[in-house]
Amino acid sequence: MAMVCLSDFEAYAKKHLPKIAWDFFAAGADDCITRDENILAYKRIHFRPRMLRDVSMMDIKTKLQGTEISFPVGIAPTGFHQLAWPDGEKSTARAAKAMNICYIASTYSTCTLEEISTAAPGGLRWFQLYIHRNRAISQQLVQQAEALGFQGLVLTVDLPYTGKRRDDIRNGFRLPPHMKLKNLEGAFEVCKMSLLDPSVSWNDIYWLRSLTHLPIIIKGILTKEDAELAVRHGVQGIIVSNHGGRQLDGGPTTIDALVEVVEAVQDRVEVYLDGGIRKGSDILKALALGAKCVFIGRPALWGLAYKGEEGLQDVLRILQDEFRLSMALAG
Ligand code: FNR
Repeated sequence: MAMVCLSDFEAYAKKHLPKIAWDFFAAGADDCITRDENILAYKRIHFRPRMLRDVSMMDIKTKLQGTEISFPVGIAPTGFHQLAWPDGEKSTARAAKAMNICYIASTYSTCTLEEISTAAPGGLRWFQLYIHRNRAISQQLVQQAEALGFQGLVLTVDLPYTGKRRDDIRNGFRLPPHMKLKNLEGAFEVCKMSLLDPSVSWNDIYWLRSLTHLPIIIKGILTKEDAELAVRHGVQGIIVSNHGGRQLDGGPTTIDALVEVVEAVQDRVEVYLDGGIRKGSDILKALALGAKCVFIGRPALWGLAYKGEEGLQDVLRILQDEFRLSMALAG
């Protein structure tokens, strides 16, 4: 079958992945309203296309925190890539490097940060952090990421507790025994309760600042009030995100939230978005509403499930072609 658009990869992944893995990737919280609305919201936004603007030459490159990328799409942090493809995050890192885009590696990776950086030396990578009860573990991960050449620290702030994902509960989801959260090995044995620290607050941004020289990007902001607080606490970037609808069901869609965040931030820091990006025209809509770059979560996993590194590159190339075409047709 010809793979023409991202839905083709979704259909492939649904058909070929074990049900428990597919359900985990697809999951949203509760009724999955926010997950589904993230996608539907793009269908309600329309362009005002302009004509006769000479679109024979187009430049789709941009910069993320000063580093050039080939087009304004990156890979959002998602856990457990080995559930999609045996090489896991190593394949993700290679595909991102080949496409010259940014890959945000999750705390919950099934490869170590070292394996990820060795797989694709020189690629643009940020490290996504969940702050753990044992702060020494978080500190060590941040400093290791910086030493390995990761160029940004993404702090995810929308997961003090894990959202209620019904299918994961029904399936009794857990990682198969041969897969490990390689960056946290040992940590789980020490601590029986959830490792995530629900007491994290704005003051912890100062703590993170004291640990690293990397730009700090805060992921999970959905309101102008929090955007203002983020800027005031000295972060360098904001990812407008609702975790793909996996956390609070009933919050705003990210494309709707983007507008108020961009207005509050007033260009003081870069603003990005993730959630529901499935087509090149979605990227263009997010950029037109003020995002500097967007990130894809599930579609990257579908690409991996299709053919590993190659499949993920296919997904990215399709998005790139569609984005270029949308720009041209919108003038
Ligand atoms: C995620 N997301 C996520 N975010 C994060 O900061 N750390 C993580 O480890 C994970 N893990 C994760 C696993 C899976 C299976 C999914 C689907 C999502 C959220 C992710 O970064 C992003 O916000 C959403 O996936 C974006 O929505 P789309 O592109 O999937 O619609």
